[in-house]
Amino acid sequence: MSKAKNRFICRECGRLFAGWLGRCPRCQAWDSFEPAPDKPAVTAAAPSEGRAAAMTLDEVPAEEAVRLKTGLAELDRVLGGGLAPGAVVLLAGEPGVGKSTLLLQAAAGTAKQGRRLLYVAGEESAVQVRLRAARLGLDLSSLWILPAVSLPEIEAEIGRGGWDVLAVDSVQTLQLPDLGGPAGSPVQVRECVARLTALAKSQGAPLWLVGHITKEGQIAGPKLLEHLVDTVLFFEGERDRPLRLLRAFKNRFGSVNETGVFEMTGSGLGEVTNPSAFFLAERPKGASGSAVTAIMEGCRPLLVEVQALVSPSPLAMPRRQTVGADPTRASLLAAVLEKKVRLKLYDRDVFVIVAGGAKIGEPAADLAVAAAVASSWLDRALPPDLLVVGEVGLAGEVRSVGRLRERLAEAARMGFAQAAVPLGELRGLKGLALEALGVESVGQFLARHLGFAGRGREETRSRRSEEI
Ligand code: TYD
Ligand code: MG
Repeated sequence: MSKAKNRFICRECGRLFAGWLGRCPRCQAWDSFEPAPDKPAVTAAAPSEGRAAAMTLDEVPAEEAVRLKTGLAELDRVLGGGLAPGAVVLLAGEPGVGKSTLLLQAAAGTAKQGRRLLYVAGEESAVQVRLRAARLGLDLSSLWILPAVSLPEIEAEIGRGGWDVLAVDSVQTLQLPDLGGPAGSPVQVRECVARLTALAKSQGAPLWLVGHITKEGQIAGPKLLEHLVDTVLFFEGERDRPLRLLRAFKNRFGSVNETGVFEMTGSGLGEVTNPSAFFLAERPKGASGSAVTAIMEGCRPLLVEVQALVSPSPLAMPRRQTVGADPTRASLLAAVLEKKVRLKLYDRDVFVIVAGGAKIGEPAADLAVAAAVASSWLDRALPPDLLVVGEVGLAGEVRSVGRLRERLAEAARMGFAQAAVPLGELRGLKGLALEALGVESVGQFLARHLGFAGRGREETRSRRSEEI
């Protein structure tokens, strides 16, 4: 345990810090830091914490304190480079998505760096957590657990000091007996979290909070806590699929545009460092009804495969069903294909899925959806090395999308040789390692890449002559 000590105490004001500084940011004393004793009494720091002293902003130390890494690069990136000292991070998600697993793995990563993390288990017994940690292959001797739900008990343990990081799983199990009401009720959750946050901040220890979200919204959800915490991370994924996405919803210590990608395996959460390869892994080459597009997950481009199946419908009102794509948008694109290129879909069922459990929420994927639908209808495959990007308007025109260059760079990295892009954006796309082909309309795309002129030949022909 002795290696766990990496904390410093200011001789003058008694405040604890996670790292050494030449001058104490609190009392301004120079060269006053010394290694903190093994288990400092919390009361040593508490009195000076009680009185806040005002200062001008130029007195505030400018240098950013060193972030504490969790050992999971995907998680550290979403946090903005690791845990900031004293940060309170809410990890929210539906039950079973893998919050406890992620936290336990992060705890082990933290411990590997010699930091003591206290894992307060309110939902599972110590035995269950031990079994899980063993299954995950974690070093059991470096993980500290406190099975408890009573806030005073938890506060007492934290108050003994010596913890570098605190983790509470979950906020909905916490209970303050004096307050009344069941655990998980808004009053209990808010009060318990407020007290824990204050305690953690006073010790300068980052605090992880796990919060469940339920569709029914019966228990107090993360919304209630948003303003109390520094960072809100959402962990998302479907139970029967391995893919898990970690998104920052609020972050006082970093960007909210980062997304972490994980895969739930038999031995815990694995980091997916090359998500495009993950999503395209099982893509059938040369099959009809498949198109690859690039979506933005935060500030990260991801290549995903859109698959479509068009089949004769026995129903009076044919189906337009989707998995991972917006069904309204898919029906709209089907209508555009029908009206603008005369692709007969009124008596066909149209199914669209995004492979690998990914979701396309952006109009930038429109052209790929239309391309996959047309490819299935015609039973002709698109070139396997073609990326398709563009929004489709109601007139069948292909509109521009944001961050095109980054999307194409990702495609080039993944070995794509050509990309169909909105014509208007062709200029300014110099110097890419793939060939960008400007597309003006859906009709033009289908004529060029699927050899389909449709019954709207007049229109397509005129577009083509412009092209030549
Ligand atoms: P868990 O972390 O308990 O979810 P949460 O805390 O968000 O409720 O994870 C629950 C699911 O993850 C569980 O159904 C089993 C699965 N799982 C694996 O597939 N592999 C593993 O190694 C672990 C630990 C869990
Ligand atoms: Mg859990």
